[in-house]
Amino acid sequence: MANFGIENKILQYLIIILNLKYLSATHDSNGNSSCVLYEQKFQLKNCVLINHSHLECNGNYNFCNDNKSEFFMLNTILIPYDSILKLSISDSSKLIVDPRNIIKTFPNLRVLTILRGKLIKIITSFPAEAKISEIRIDRTKLDTLPDDVFKYLSLPHAIDLRNNALAKINPESFNITSLTSLYLAGNPWKCNYNMSWILKINNNSLAMKIKDTEKLHCTSPYEGRPLFAVVEIIETLRNECKQTVCDCELIHVVGPRNSHQQINNKRQLMAFVAVNCSYRGLEEMPDFIPTNTTRLYLTGNKIFDLTKIVTNPVYREVRDLYLDDNLIESITILDGSYWLEHFRVFSLRGNKLADLPTYALENVLVQGENAVSIYLGNNPWTCDCLFTPGFQDLLLQYTNIIKDIHDIKCNLLINNGENSGKLIKDLTRTEICVMPNEFFLHPIDILNIILATTILLIIGKFIYDYWLFKRTGILPWIVTKIP
Ligand SMILES: *[C@@H]1O[C@H](CO)[C@@H](O)[C@H](O)[C@H]1NC(C)=O
Ligand SMILES: *[C@@H]1O[C@H](CO)[C@@H](O)[C@H](O)[C@H]1NC(C)=O
Ligand SMILES: *[C@@H]1O[C@H](CO)[C@@H](O)[C@H](O)[C@H]1NC(C)=O
Ligand SMILES: *[C@@H]1O[C@H](CO)[C@@H](O)[C@H](O)[C@H]1NC(C)=O
Ligand SMILES: *[C@@H]1O[C@H](CO)[C@@H](O)[C@H](O)[C@H]1NC(C)=O
Ligand SMILES: *[C@@H]1O[C@H](CO)[C@@H](O)[C@H](O)[C@H]1NC(C)=O
Ligand SMILES: *[C@@H]1O[C@H](CO)[C@@H](O)[C@H](O)[C@H]1NC(C)=O
Ligand SMILES: *[C@@H]1O[C@H](CO)[C@@H](O)[C@H](O)[C@H]1NC(C)=O
Repeated sequence: MANFGIENKILQYLIIILNLKYLSATHDSNGNSSCVLYEQKFQLKNCVLINHSHLECNGNYNFCNDNKSEFFMLNTILIPYDSILKLSISDSSKLIVDPRNIIKTFPNLRVLTILRGKLIKIITSFPAEAKISEIRIDRTKLDTLPDDVFKYLSLPHAIDLRNNALAKINPESFNITSLTSLYLAGNPWKCNYNMSWILKINNNSLAMKIKDTEKLHCTSPYEGRPLFAVVEIIETLRNECKQTVCDCELIHVVGPRNSHQQINNKRQLMAFVAVNCSYRGLEEMPDFIPTNTTRLYLTGNKIFDLTKIVTNPVYREVRDLYLDDNLIESITILDGSYWLEHFRVFSLRGNKLADLPTYALENVLVQGENAVSIYLGNNPWTCDCLFTPGFQDLLLQYTNIIKDIHDIKCNLLINNGENSGKLIKDLTRTEICVMPNEFFLHPIDILNIILATTILLIIGKFIYDYWLFKRTGILPWIVTKIP
């Protein structure tokens, strides 16, 4: 090695002497920051030769070998372009990479690395004649790749795109038989974009060539969750959704994030799925919804029966249920059910509800563990002395949960004229319990009064008879008649 170093130095010395004439050409510049022309040879600024085949350049870089000279100059040394096998460019503040030009300039290039800095664009493809075996673009701002940038590379090669700003890639642009390995970690992957190809790990598939699959993570809305597991969940959901008439979306994933362990086990994640079956003309609640559906929209259908919420286990995990604008007349069936005790949002606006089991709802709200919002507006609520006082208490006690108290009104048609259309929260007790006949008494009450009066009369008569007997010795008339 030492010998080689000395030989190298002697060689460089000779080159300096041979090319001394170029030294005088200091003004022959074209004004371009990276391409400085010295008598038809380009002087590369900000570059150093690490060894005779490895060139390293810093800052903004253009390789402008327009005149197809065989040499470039580096600190007065002439260097043949085709001796460069490895080129590193780092810390460019604004770099537009033109691979075709790079390969034209350095035809024997094997390894190209672009490190740090703001690589903003790659504008051409690597040409078929490139002898590239490794491309590494690391810690730049690169966020898109032209579709065919690597397509024509014919020799076996590895591509390392770690720690850039790539959110999605077109798998077709990596469908290259000569690609041996691909590194993609550290990019903000959009997992809800079509990434199902990454699950197809077989023979020569692209997924097979990705060497760091377990280190890939998602960007929002699944911030930091492991990509492979999330894509798996999305795929399962997509297949299950096909069995419904609804739209399905994975809204949220809970679980460990950015862990250094290999967490591709979807069992460590909890999925939250929203399913939208609104305005589908449904006459009953669906028999099947995707597993882990936590939010279900059934707005604008013709549903009147809620039995399935109780009987069908698929509804156990549904926390947010929107049943607005249906034909529901009663929710009594939910009384005491698992679902009623665990829901978070229950929206029943615009149905046909006239009353509801106040005590059942109250029981749930008293525990106050899960329920966050209830909507009951735009229903034909009964306003009578039997139902309304308890209902009104409930509304006033849970204003933080019952969100649309300003839409909860007495039925316009059925109730007596005075209260129809009034806000239930504003009714006074006398308004509620006003009776058609003020002195009307219930038949049972009348009977009770008669019986009580009779008892009093009998007791009075008994006391009077006792007093009379003591004073006068006269037995009551009835006793004299008994044999
Ligand atoms: C630098 O040179 C390249 C190639 O010759 C040219 O395209 C570019 O416009 C030049 N830049 C400036 C600032 O002169
Ligand atoms: C030149 O340096 C690179 C690392 O910078 C190294 O991989 C390569 O083997 C070196 N080449 C020679 C011929 O020493
Ligand atoms: C190319 O070479 C010609 C002479 O061969 C010279 O006149 C011209 O300035 C050179 N241009 C560039 C951009 O290198
Ligand atoms: C890859 O490209 C070949 C043609 O070059 C095509 O037949 C094949 O379907 C592609 N594979 C994928 C997974 O896109
Ligand atoms: C997702 O990509 C696969 C192949 O990569 C394709 O078959 C499918 O149609 C794509 N789906 C969407 C929604 O783009
Ligand atoms: C792998 O390729 C072989 C033949 O090339 C084929 O028989 C086999 O089915 C493939 N396996 C998979 C999982 O695609
Ligand atoms: C889906 O729900 C089931 C229980 O119904 C649970 O065991 C499973 O872990 C959930 N899956 C995800 C990805 O949340
Ligand atoms: C559900 O779907 C309907 C119609 O398909 C749409 O109008 C509505 O905005 C969707 N709701 C949500 C919450 O996505």
